[in-house]
Order: sequence, then C-alpha cells, then structure tokens
Amino acid sequence: MTKAKTWALAVAAAVLATSTAALGQAADQKLVDEGRKAFNSKTWDCVKCHSAEGAGNKKLPMERLNKMAPEEIRKWITSPAEMTAKLPKKPAVPMKKQDIPPAEVDALVAFVRSIQK
Ligand code: HEC
Repeated sequence: MTKAKTWALAVAAAVLATSTAALGQAADQKLVDEGRKAFNSKTWDCVKCHSAEGAGNKKLPMERLNKMAPEEIRKWITSPAEMTAKLPKKPAVPMKKQDIPPAEVDALVAFVRSIQK
C-alpha cells in the first residue's frame, strides 16, 4: 500500500470513529429525554415521592444519589421491596413495584444516572 493510501485509510477510520461516537451520544440523549418524560409522567408518578431537576417531591431528590450504579438504580425501579428491605431506616411511604415496560425502565435509569452529582 502506498503512503498516500495508508493515510487516506487512517483518515477514513478516524472520521468513522468520530461519527459513530456522535451517533452514540445522540442515542444516549434521546434515552435520557424519554426517561425525563417517564419520570415526570402521571403514569409512573415518580415525582409524587422524588424530585429531579427541581421538580417534584423535594424529600428525595434524585440528584443526591452520588453516582449510584446503573444496576442499582434499575433494581430500585424493578424490585423496590427487595431494595427497601436493605435500608437501615425504613421509609414511612415505601416505593411500590409498578409494571414498567423494559424500554421505559432503560430510559428511567439513563435519566436518573444523567442527573446525579
Ligand atoms: C410512593 C412513593 C414513591 C414512588 C411513587 C417512587 N418512589 Fe422511588 N423511592 C421511594 C422511597 C421511600 C425510596 C427509599 C428512599 C431511601 O430511604 O433511601 C425510594 C428509592 C428510590 C431509588 C433509590 C435511591 C433513593 O432515592 O434512595 C430510586 C433510584 C428510585 N426510588 C427511583 C424511582 C423511580 C424512577 C420512580 C418512578 C418510576 C419511583 N422511584 C417512584 C418512594 C417512591
């Protein structure tokens, strides 16, 4: 391969890598936006007990979680009773399990993760 061809290939590979990363970011942002909608929706009513970005019940702001791992956030959303059982101090109004479709659970996890400090 000539030097010029090798160079051209390297440039093409770099352009491809950059645009793939940009696409990934756009997809992440879309998921976060969907999660924000789900979080604030009347259907799941997370804001009855939690707040995010200043809206909702300020007693349990999602921002305070300090980088809770995504798997742990997911567990809270899908098995709240199991997670509540692990708390040293039981909440007065515990979180109840809701039948949230997996795609919306993914979006909620992405949103909650995105706003943590
Ligand atoms: C009936 C009130 C209630 C509702 C509705 C509710 N939660 Fe919770 N949630 C709680 C309580 C109470 C805890 C435990 C707080 C503690 O003491 O750490 C909790 C904990 C969590 C946690 C673990 C981090 C934390 O704040 O302690 C996440 C993440 C979470 N909830 C997400 C959600 C999402 C997403 C929704 C909506 C799908 C939701 N919750 C709906 C009451 C609720």
